[in-house]
Amino acid sequence: MNNIRIALQKDVSLKALNTFGIDAVAANYLEIHGIQDLERVYGDESLQRLPRLILGGGSNLLLVSERFEGIVLRMVNKGIAVERDDGQAVYLRVAAGEEWHGFVMWTLQQGYPGLENMSLIPGTAGAAPVQNIGAYGVELKDYFYSLRAFDFQTGQMVELDREDCGFSYRDSIFKHEMKDRLVITDLTFVLPREWKPNIGYGDVAKALIEKGITDPTAEQISHAVIAIRQRKLPDPKEQGNAGSFFQNPTVTAEQMAVLKAKYPDMPSYPQPDGRFRIAAGWLIDQCGWKGRQLGRAGVCAAQALVLINCGDAKGKEIAELAKAIQADVQAKFGIQLVPEPAFV
Ligand code: EPU
Repeated sequence: MNNIRIALQKDVSLKALNTFGIDAVAANYLEIHGIQDLERVYGDESLQRLPRLILGGGSNLLLVSERFEGIVLRMVNKGIAVERDDGQAVYLRVAAGEEWHGFVMWTLQQGYPGLENMSLIPGTAGAAPVQNIGAYGVELKDYFYSLRAFDFQTGQMVELDREDCGFSYRDSIFKHEMKDRLVITDLTFVLPREWKPNIGYGDVAKALIEKGITDPTAEQISHAVIAIRQRKLPDPKEQGNAGSFFQNPTVTAEQMAVLKAKYPDMPSYPQPDGRFRIAAGWLIDQCGWKGRQLGRAGVCAAQALVLINCGDAKGKEIAELAKAIQADVQAKFGIQLVPEPAFV
């Protein structure tokens, strides 16, 4: 019996491994400590054949099925290192299994600013590129340099740069053509030595003004972001959730003009391509869903874009609530909301 068979666990509850706290079971479960573990799975014919679910922090996942018959590969590889520093920028490598927030804190402690607006985003570093995480005016792609991944089609490691990853708003190739093929093992970020604070986002600017801070440090921005997130977003440890449940929808300038005429208060943000992004939380709020419940699934009272597990909800119940919200938003505004988490 090889190592991988010994480490493989059967019928493992995923309840503590997804931030919604859904009690689903994985038929096969394996922790990935390094590339060798992935090579061993690839080398084992019966394991290679199974459907795979790559698990990081489980913070962008809705387990709809009560049982996953494939194999869960949970990334637990660790390590953060300075790859190089050319005087202009520092290149930092982080293993997929590191906690994203822990990594951001490390960069700030070491004196490498840049990622502070993305403080306290739940999940692992390896999951961050999948949906090109972003918050308060900054996205992962702004500081991303490259990543390495194991290719389950060839059994080889590949290296991808920013362009290869096809990043856009909450999207990348890892959600589409490379979804079941590539397993991200580590990422490299490039943080320019010349740093400028990014405080264009209303909430952040307001929080700093309230504290009398006009020329903030990266740490002060990080503290402000953490305070806003703690106020607006429920802590998954206390109330199961996956952050924003829907993406903010994008509409054309023509559609926006029609919507604005009817709903002058609708929050919207112009995009570089001339389109507009609309706040999905506002749409849901306007449909009267904020703070409401459907079965054991609910809509957060502080932020309508966040769906919550009100206690032992099944994944199916959260999905039903999402469907009801989508139907109401479609009926009232003619806009189709797209969920952010992966449904498994
Ligand atoms: N709004 C309401 N009612 C609500 C919620 C929001 O009217 O219940 C309005 C707010 O008043 C505001 C607007 O909607 O005018 C936007 O709200 P907010 O600033 O909270 O941001 P968001 O668009 O709801 C996005 C991201 C968050 C990210 C914040 C800050 C998406 C899907 N969500 O939320 O990301 O933290 O901006 O940058 O893009 C996540 O992806 O999980 C996530 C939390």
